[in-house]
Amino acid sequence: MMPEWVILEEGYAEENAPSLGNRFLVGNGYMGVRGTLEEYEADKLPAVNLAGIYDKAGDGWREPINAPNPCYAYLKVDGEIYRLPDREAKSHKMGVDYRHGIFFRETVWHTQRGNIKLWTERFASMSDVHVLGMRYRVCADFHADVELLTGIDSAVWDLNGPHLERLAMKERDNTLLVYAYTHEEDIPVAVAEKVKADFPTQIRTTVKGEKMLHRINLITKPGEEYSIEKTAVVYTGKDCKNPEAEAQRAVEAKCEEGYDALLAAHVERWEELWKHSEVTILGDESAMRAVNYSLYHLHSIAPRHTDSLSIPARGLSGQTYKGAVFWDTEMFMLDFFLMTDPATARILMKYRIDTLEGALKKAAHYGFEGAFYAWESQEGGFDACSDYNVTDVFTGRPMRTFFKDKQMHISAAVAYGILRYVEWTKDITILDEKGVRTVVECARFYYSLLLKHLNKPYYEIHDVIGPDEYHERINNNGYTNRMAKFTLESAVEVLKKAKQNGTLPKEYDAEKLCEEFEDAARKLYLPKPQQDGEKKGVIEQFDGYFTLEDASLEQVRGRLLHEKEYWGGAYGVASHTQIIKQADVVTWLNLFSEEYDVETLRENWEYYEPRTEHGSSLSAGMYAMLACKIGEPDRAYPFFLKSAMADLQAGGKEWAGLIYIGGTHPAAAGAAYMTAIRGFGGITIENGKLVCRPSLPKSIQGMQFHVFYGGQEYEVNIEGNESSVKAF
Ligand code: BGC
Repeated sequence: MMPEWVILEEGYAEENAPSLGNRFLVGNGYMGVRGTLEEYEADKLPAVNLAGIYDKAGDGWREPINAPNPCYAYLKVDGEIYRLPDREAKSHKMGVDYRHGIFFRETVWHTQRGNIKLWTERFASMSDVHVLGMRYRVCADFHADVELLTGIDSAVWDLNGPHLERLAMKERDNTLLVYAYTHEEDIPVAVAEKVKADFPTQIRTTVKGEKMLHRINLITKPGEEYSIEKTAVVYTGKDCKNPEAEAQRAVEAKCEEGYDALLAAHVERWEELWKHSEVTILGDESAMRAVNYSLYHLHSIAPRHTDSLSIPARGLSGQTYKGAVFWDTEMFMLDFFLMTDPATARILMKYRIDTLEGALKKAAHYGFEGAFYAWESQEGGFDACSDYNVTDVFTGRPMRTFFKDKQMHISAAVAYGILRYVEWTKDITILDEKGVRTVVECARFYYSLLLKHLNKPYYEIHDVIGPDEYHERINNNGYTNRMAKFTLESAVEVLKKAKQNGTLPKEYDAEKLCEEFEDAARKLYLPKPQQDGEKKGVIEQFDGYFTLEDASLEQVRGRLLHEKEYWGGAYGVASHTQIIKQADVVTWLNLFSEEYDVETLRENWEYYEPRTEHGSSLSAGMYAMLACKIGEPDRAYPFFLKSAMADLQAGGKEWAGLIYIGGTHPAAAGAAYMTAIRGFGGITIENGKLVCRPSLPKSIQGMQFHVFYGGQEYEVNIEGNESSVKAF
């Protein structure tokens, strides 16, 4: 294994457990297994987080479920328990091989009679998504009386649980099975596991509270290594009719295949993924590692096992953000899949098409027409966002927030994703009647939002929240209006094509709709760059933004009374100032940079960057991308690294008010990819052709990567200012 594909943490610090759980996550799109130690119980946040299956318990938030944890294990030596953090280790390291998605740990304990070492490994199989492969190895330098206890822990970590009830435990021929049902919809969930030792031993079963465990005993010979393989499977009522029987059957078969064979198939699948997606960066190893590590996370959470599902904002790292899908997918992650794995991009967009019903209902609920997509989308397009999404740190009371009802740019992200999918893949089959309807209904939503003053010639959109969530219920947010215009224009394009292709839904009067949408797109108000004065060239983020107090970020930070205080909302320290949470105008200009001269792009970058808190991990990537567009890759570089390192470095935001928001950051990973490939690599489409106009920062001498465009894979080579794009 190449050492550069390993991220390692040496030594043990209990307080790092939550962030290492994210950093060393392994996953396969069906499940995400947090990178926590085997002996950890719910308080240290272990999780086998399942994609696309949600539950609501009592008055808590509806969130994805964590399966009973089959990674649970610990050691007993000479009758004493050896596990972290209870028993200090002589040495400890853990990490992840992010080329092949393998978590590992290596711990040595000093006992009264000598030293004993435990190695473990685990992977969530990329080739069979129901399977988890694990291996434990022990070696002592004395005749140790060892007992390995390993099994399934059904006391799972939940933010708003418990979600599993009517729990049953079964044992048959050394197969352990835990079976339960979700609280709200009675969906069965089954986890089974089986172990195999490479030494003669008797394997017994024991139940300790909510844990069902094997006990495997051995007396070690000094210096000799003993290995135990464990295979676990997870099935739910969403996968098959009888998850219990399926789990029983599968675990027997997989255990029979053996760890090495399962691992080999898993590794082969990862190699196949890297063949199309690995990014080689010459001259800057840390950038290369950070980018590929970001791609590792995106691969690990891609829902390849279905034909219609999307990726939650915190991936499969837990229940944070309710396991919900945000604009993050279309605006930040989609490009990676379009360019390296278009089949997955299709699955992501199909999810939006298949959840149109939820979006139509949401629009109707608020008195609008068309499709208003969920801000926090769960299955069926159900909006999991609460009207009170932040808890006030001072009163402990829920705060009214308007993300759900006012972050209206979400529907435009959906239309943008679908159109971008068609542009990059040239696969117009996604625009069947349902696909057409999705884009058109998004446009109808914006059409129904338009306001017109009798004395003004243009249309406006009032009472929204833009990407900068700290300023709520504002009028004419430039980003929202520009995206609405994009959606209206796209719908016209789609309607015209649908008429030609025979995919026009019967209920549409295409001519009338086109006329309305064209008129709306033409007359929709867009704030313009200031004509003169000290803000010449700068675009006002929304009506009245420039009249807000122009306090510095430090001043505003200095006004905080509590470290977890929410910056936005009615009393937020940022709300009445020009300090913004994340790239807003800069996101707009990045998407439509060709409509402005470089000077305007630069003026806006310069104005807004010092006023941006970067309180969302989505922010830095947009600044990086726009810096590339103004010809400043070196200024882009630190923002690019910040995005690429979002899950490598501790220190990201973990709280919004009193709500825990920690987890992985796939949108930042996607933004890092976009900056590397499109920003530095300068990959773009011109007149229907893939072209490469590199603009490398000083530290990067060259790049090599592959990109799919129009169903064809290309190999891109960049060396300094020279580049080539060849069909592969
Ligand atoms: C950001 C949103 C983002 C969400 C999920 C929030 O903090 O402001 O733009 O969609 O997190 O990542």
